[in-house]
Amino acid sequence: MQWLNLGDNVNLLSLIGAVLIIAITFIVVGRMFAQMKTQKGEVELMEYNWDGIGEQKNNAPFGWMLVFFLIIVWMIWYFLWGYPLGSYSRIGEYNAEVQAHNAKFSEKFKSLSQDEKIAMGQNLFLVQCSQCHGITADGINGKAANLNVWGSEEALADVIEKGSKGMNYPLGEMTPAEGLGIAKEDIPAIAAYVAKEISAIKTTKNENLVAKGKELYEATCVACHQLDGTGKIDGEAMAADLTQYGSSAFVAEVLNRGKAGAIGTMPSFNTSILNDIQKEAVGEYIISLSRGR
Ligand code: HEC
Ligand code: HEC
Repeated sequence: MQWLNLGDNVNLLSLIGAVLIIAITFIVVGRMFAQMKTQKGEVELMEYNWDGIGEQKNNAPFGWMLVFFLIIVWMIWYFLWGYPLGSYSRIGEYNAEVQAHNAKFSEKFKSLSQDEKIAMGQNLFLVQCSQCHGITADGINGKAANLNVWGSEEALADVIEKGSKGMNYPLGEMTPAEGLGIAKEDIPAIAAYVAKEISAIKTTKNENLVAKGKELYEATCVACHQLDGTGKIDGEAMAADLTQYGSSAFVAEVLNRGKAGAIGTMPSFNTSILNDIQKEAVGEYIISLSRGR
């Protein structure tokens, strides 16, 4: 334990306060004793008395009144600009410590290899995600998304068929294929084109459908996702960024936005629970599960 850590302003102020209080007590008590020796009580009494015991008529001394009003002024200053709202706060100190820790964390883990990211991601997944998605990430029979499939060409086809919602993009919900006038048999073509040419998946099992998929994409999906697939208009994200689909960046986006979807609600992880490196790591882990699908 460290005694008298006077580098800390709060300790220093407390100490000065304590010394002042002791000094003032001695001075005041000393003066009173001196007065008791010389002064005789000749004061006005209040009108009433009890069995001959009266009470002195004492007006509040001017000094006390002054101090009283000064304290009110000081209190207002203290509350607005001094301690609580102004400078030091425990929450601020906590946040500063978290920031310092995160800085240390990103320094230590700044150059992780792919395998190390996946390993870190798997650990994080077991702690933060498995309670809903299951320890094998299969979504526990539809309780949450099946992440062994999600992020793959197969999952693209599924999203096109069923639509998507709950990530709070300005465009709101993505309409299911039927509502967009897309025939069921055309879905694999769109999925092939998006997988191969737009997303981060970069391959497709249906190479021969890519050209047809491009036409369909440009007829339907551009309305919301734009020609380049970024879903951005003037830099603002209006719909999901398909260029990131199949990468850890898309997972990080889901974690930041949360997902109040069709089968359930996933809370946003846009808090200090996971820092950016951890989001990337858990993203790499999830993408590794569906790779090759
Ligand atoms: C009406 C506008 C609209 C159209 C048309 C549209 N989308 Fe979307 N899309 C969205 C929005 C909004 C989201 C984000 C939805 C969410 O909150 O999950 C989205 C999300 C997605 C996702 C990400 C799904 C996930 O798992 O998070 C994919 C992939 C996608 N769209 C592909 C397509 C394709 C391919 C087409 C063309 C067949 C298409 N979209 C047409 C608006 C649209
Ligand atoms: C409280 C339960 C819960 C937790 C915890 C949770 N999820 Fe989810 N997650 C869900 C549900 C439910 C869905 C499906 C939402 C829907 O489409 O209806 C989902 C969907 C997803 C999706 C697919 C999103 C999309 O756009 O379709 C990803 C990726 C995902 N979760 C990753 C994670 C990761 C990574 C973690 C841990 C950091 C995590 N989840 C923690 C419940 C959860």
